[in-house]
Amino acid sequence: MPQIIDGKAISAQIKEEVKAQVAAYREQGAEITLAVIQVGNDPASGVYVGNKKKACAYVGIRSLAYELPEETTEEELLTLISDLNRREDVHGILVQLPLPAQIDENKVINAIDPRKDVDGFHPQNVGALCTGQDGFVSCTPAGIIQLLTRSGISVAGKECVVIGRSNIVGKPMALLLLKENGTVTVCHSKTKNVKEVAKRADILVAAVGRPRMITEEYVKEGAVVIDVGIHRNAENKLCGDVDYESVAPHTSAITPVPGGVGPMTIAMLMYNCVEAYRFRERNQ
Ligand code: GUN
Repeated sequence: MPQIIDGKAISAQIKEEVKAQVAAYREQGAEITLAVIQVGNDPASGVYVGNKKKACAYVGIRSLAYELPEETTEEELLTLISDLNRREDVHGILVQLPLPAQIDENKVINAIDPRKDVDGFHPQNVGALCTGQDGFVSCTPAGIIQLLTRSGISVAGKECVVIGRSNIVGKPMALLLLKENGTVTVCHSKTKNVKEVAKRADILVAAVGRPRMITEEYVKEGAVVIDVGIHRNAENKLCGDVDYESVAPHTSAITPVPGGVGPMTIAMLMYNCVEAYRFRERNQ
């Protein structure tokens, strides 16, 4: 029987730790504040943003919500970011992605003060991760490292295979596994023999975005499998990038969907908000 990595329990534990830290800062009169910007009314983004606001309320972080219309111009959004960058009472800024087509996502990410970039998307933070310096780390991959360490799974010396090379998950995941001294391979849409490469993995991270693509043929006996995907199948049931039923019996540990990686993203966002506050305090 594999170990089922319980993201619900681990994320709850992290949120409790953050909540205690926020309460201690509150005692000193500090109010940690996150600005959350959503442009347009993509239903999935609406759910994510709602959950982020709820988590802020739970841990005691003040959230400022900016819900901008679909037709917002790039200039309007950049002006708002510039105002929030200057505001002393705002510690973190998050712009929910994706953005409407008229807005250049990279321009927006680059405009956020890297010291307030709690998503860890700014090139300065990505560069810091790449060179082993301090900075914000993208929440989902940071959450996966927490899942592994808090489940007693070490990365050092292991063969790690990441399937997917997105800026939000695949690339920072590979960098974090490397930082933990894993031997890392990244597969993507042009990789030949993904199955063969994946089968070498002691730790396999699936972040492909295709429902149940990873079957038992991709998985070495006894591997640890981390599933980043979340989809709805034909019966409206949630499923991941991994075909859980066929893969789980061959693993030593696996994340379920839902209740695996998903809840970790928001827990790590809350953690990053406290880090943003601490950073400001250290560098006043
Ligand atoms: N869209 C999908 N995932 C994320 C995330 O982690 N942060 C932001 N800002 N947008 C997203």
